[in-house]
Amino acid sequence: MNENICLILKDQTVFFKSSEDMSELEDESIDVIITSPPYNRGKIYTSDTGESHDDRMDEDEYLSFLTKIWEE
Ligand SMILES: C[S@@+](CC[C@H](N)C(=O)[O-])C[C@H]1O[C@@H](n2cnc3c(N)ncnc32)[C@H](O)[C@@H]1O
Repeated sequence: MNENICLILKDQTVFFKSSEDMSELEDESIDVIITSPPYNRGKIYTSDTGESHDDRMDEDEYLSFLTKIWEE
């Protein structure tokens, strides 16, 4: 995903990028996250940037993908 695309509103910034790297967010700056991650059920996702998500990972790969994001 293109890491340089974001939309800055009055008091919000919307990033159009992968959640695997959220280094632009300061540590300890988030109170709560509500998310609906990919569920690895084989759904076909499309995006405006043309990036696609593999929704049929091996279980270990899928858990590693989610763990990386939860840790971030
Ligand atoms: C279960 S759907 C949730 C859809 C969302 N609730 C909505 O209404 O648009 C999972 C979404 O995560 C996106 N996605 C997949 N990999 C991602 C990643 N590394 N970072 C951010 N989003 C990702 C998929 O493209 C898909 O839109």
